[in-house]
Amino acid sequence: MNYPQIIKKEHESFIKFIYASVMVKEADVRHKLNDIALFKYRHMVWIMQDAVNNNVKFNMDFDEKEIAKIKVETEDELIEVLKEDLNQNIAIYEGINNPTINRFRSDDEFFLEELNILDVEGEITSFNENKTLKEIELDEESKSALVFFLMEETFKEYELITIYSYLKVHSNIAIANSAFTDLAYDSIYHLKRFASLASEMGVLTLPRVIPHDKYENIGVVEFLKENIEEEMDAEKQCLILAEKIGNKYLKDFLLFISRQEVYHGELLQRALNAINNK
Ligand SMILES: [Fe+2]
Ligand SMILES: [Fe+2]
Repeated sequence: MNYPQIIKKEHESFIKFIYASVMVKEADVRHKLNDIALFKYRHMVWIMQDAVNNNVKFNMDFDEKEIAKIKVETEDELIEVLKEDLNQNIAIYEGINNPTINRFRSDDEFFLEELNILDVEGEITSFNENKTLKEIELDEESKSALVFFLMEETFKEYELITIYSYLKVHSNIAIANSAFTDLAYDSIYHLKRFASLASEMGVLTLPRVIPHDKYENIGVVEFLKENIEEEMDAEKQCLILAEKIGNKYLKDFLLFISRQEVYHGELLQRALNAINNK
């Protein structure tokens, strides 16, 4: 069984589904794609854990050309790309019979069935640089600050999800593990919200591959310290933008996110304390 190959595939699948979920306009389709994205995230982490348990090395690379396939003109074409993705996933499970892969196969076959009955017909406008929000008026300065923030922060959230997941499966300190899990899920939520705004404004950017030195061979203590800084920086970026933005809802949204970032620092600090007191 080729663990790195399956990890890469689940990883690519997670990215495609989470971005696709903010690219379509129908609320029920967005929900369905987001549900599948969360399952593909779990698949990725489970197979990473199995690889670690079997002493198989892997990295968090993905094929950018594979992800770029979701840059299509219509929702209809997007669903076709996602179906093709699930078919590719199912094909690599061929001949493998173990609890993890059996679960993946069963999930993916059902997801495929769900995609088959979807009826979508909208245009994809996530990349058209319209720079407007339906219900929110913004002056030019707020608008460019928001666009810049969204492009930076969607990438950072993706990076954190990936790094926290990698660290989680490589750490056997229970409190750190639990913090990494919570941080990854909060970051998936942040990614979804930021990407959703970016998509509405037509400035959605797809993730880049993360350099290995960001996650490989890092001691957990060093990693925790560095990431407490990262989380504090994320809080600061939200506060700076909240100050600039001339809209109450967006301002409150950014303050809400900023307070979650503060709590991320707290979770990492607790993990650090637990390790230091061992
Ligand atoms: Fe965040
Ligand atoms: Fe965070």
